[in-house]
Amino acid sequence: MNDVNIYETDELVSQYCDFQYGEDIFGVENFAKVCAQKAIGYSKCTQQGKALDIGCATGRASFELTKVFDHVDGIDYSQTFIDTALELQKNGRILYAQNREGELKSSILVDMTMYSFRDSCIKARFFQGDACNLESQFNGYDLIMATNLIDRLYEPQLFLNTIHERVTNGGILLLTSPYTWREEYTAKEFWIGGYTDENGDEILALEGLKQLLEENFDLLATEEVPFVIRETSRKFQHTISQMSVWRRR
Ligand SMILES: C[S@@+](CC[C@H](N)C(=O)[O-])C[C@H]1O[C@@H](n2cnc3c(N)ncnc32)[C@H](O)[C@@H]1O
Repeated sequence: MNDVNIYETDELVSQYCDFQYGEDIFGVENFAKVCAQKAIGYSKCTQQGKALDIGCATGRASFELTKVFDHVDGIDYSQTFIDTALELQKNGRILYAQNREGELKSSILVDMTMYSFRDSCIKARFFQGDACNLESQFNGYDLIMATNLIDRLYEPQLFLNTIHERVTNGGILLLTSPYTWREEYTAKEFWIGGYTDENGDEILALEGLKQLLEENFDLLATEEVPFVIRETSRKFQHTISQMSVWRRR
């Protein structure tokens, strides 16, 4: 990881508040909400007691999961993101600065009374933590979701090789990623896909994930899930993330 963690900056906190709590853009539904709904759907085959949202950012999907799960842990490496989720939970509101043009910004209010998880949100707990070096207390989950996380980890194998130890038998691991491998986040030797191997074969990330996960998980489904992040009033990132859903054997 870089010396400066961009996920601790005011710019990214505002961008993620907008992404996770702001209005839908270009008719693309809120990504955190969609992922949580899909996670709830896929985990109907097992108990829905305890869930973990790892790389939770400002907590939207964690809050969505509290509508069904008895207990939800949200963990993120960024203390500033975790503080934002905690402030929302405690005070029920937060103001963020939405970029318009240049130095012009709009002040936007997130008001928890507007959301269907306004009462259940107290079931979430938030922690600063490292997905590649999680403390042992984080285990026994019926669902673990890690959305758009693996291509931001310094060594995704550390997360993926041990995650089965934290999922209950029959429990669900739901991953999404646009697989935008970048050396500023992940040294090339740790990329799970997006490279040519020593035999000259092109390795895509889903293949790499199978190699890492198939010993302990069955692949249930893959889906394409779009999302849009606002940079300014006139510039947006429109991305397609691949969701893969795994059941712990
Ligand atoms: C691309 S954002 C995705 C956020 C959110 N899950 C979503 O789908 O919008 C990546 C997130 O992973 C977090 N992150 C990066 N490295 C991490 C690590 N080692 N452990 C836990 N979280 C990490 C970042 O702080 C950021 O919140």
